[in-house]
Amino acid sequence: MVYEEYGGPEVLELRDVPTPEPAPGEVLVEVVAVSINLSDWEGLRGSPAYARMGGLRRPSRPILGTDVAGRVVAVGPGASRFAVGDEVYGDNLPRGGGFAEYVAMPESAIAHKPFALTFAEASAIPQAGAIAAQAVALAEPGARMLINGAGGGAGTLAIQLAVAQGVRVTAVDNAGKLAYLRELGAERVIDYRRTDFTRTGPYDLVVDLVAHRSIFAYRRALAKGGRCVVVGGTARAVLRLAPVGPLHGLLTGAHLGVLLVRQGPRGFGPVAELCESGAVSVRIDRVFPLEEVPAALAWHAEGRACGKVIVAVRED
Ligand SMILES: NC(=O)c1ccc[n+]([C@@H]2O[C@H](COP(=O)([O-])OP(=O)(O)OC[C@H]3O[C@@H](n4cnc5c(N)ncnc54)[C@H](OP(=O)(O)O)[C@@H]3O)[C@@H](O)[C@H]2O)c1
Repeated sequence: MVYEEYGGPEVLELRDVPTPEPAPGEVLVEVVAVSINLSDWEGLRGSPAYARMGGLRRPSRPILGTDVAGRVVAVGPGASRFAVGDEVYGDNLPRGGGFAEYVAMPESAIAHKPFALTFAEASAIPQAGAIAAQAVALAEPGARMLINGAGGGAGTLAIQLAVAQGVRVTAVDNAGKLAYLRELGAERVIDYRRTDFTRTGPYDLVVDLVAHRSIFAYRRALAKGGRCVVVGGTARAVLRLAPVGPLHGLLTGAHLGVLLVRQGPRGFGPVAELCESGAVSVRIDRVFPLEEVPAALAWHAEGRACGKVIVAVRED
């Protein structure tokens, strides 16, 4: 599913392209399932501005799709951790290439798929799991944590991880998702279309997955000594927190900053283990075939998905 210019789902086109060759240190994966993340939508639109890091005017990589589960079908020179036939999953950010029948992935980006998880479930975990684990690691047991954008991939895993370690979660998302977020263990829920969460605090930790607020609004939401991290959102919101946040912290004692997520199996592996044991659940909202990637991306972007949207490339 190829695109050559930034735009809406209509710029995507199903085409035959050469099967990628695994480079040194890479394996070739036959894709079974690939999940949709907000970063795919951002890469399609070329917005926020950070989504154009690889190509200012046009996308430098013509195939989106990062969170892949599938089977190894070839091993590149020097790659030794995986063999042909292994079932694997991982996050190919920032290269993408997953909305396809085959994708070349660095060995360092993948892990063996947990046996008890389907390919669709495994594909739902990498990026969202790494973000969730790293965000929740900032919370102490008993802390009041607010997650903005809590109804998406990263947020729904973060709620469960936080509640399991005794953190009290307030979850913010659209009204249609709030009952589900309560089911996952959120103590309070807020509809972002009706209520400004920055006026509902104080919180010890604010994690904003879709940031667009000013530093002063975040400051207002925080308890004394509290911390706010922005994971994604408008370029403006992310950029103003990166340099100014630490300075603001020195002056006021509030910690504001950007969470740079370490991708890779060390980040998402522990979350997948919890999913495999049943301690944490992954909800799959809808499954689309490869030729319907444009519809899948639109479904995700329109705010109707409650759970992960999956593209099934082959039978699971
Ligand atoms: N910092 C890093 O290193 C790093 C690495 C990877 C990804 N990311 C970023 O992480 C972010 C989260 O990704 P994700 O895959 O979890 O996203 P997602 O699945 O799309 O979830 C985002 C959620 O936020 C909700 N939302 C939209 N606008 C909102 C608003 N104004 N206020 C509150 N909630 C709102 C959405 O609901 P609707 O359905 O109503 O739109 C959706 O439920 C992305 O921005 C991505 O770029 C960061």
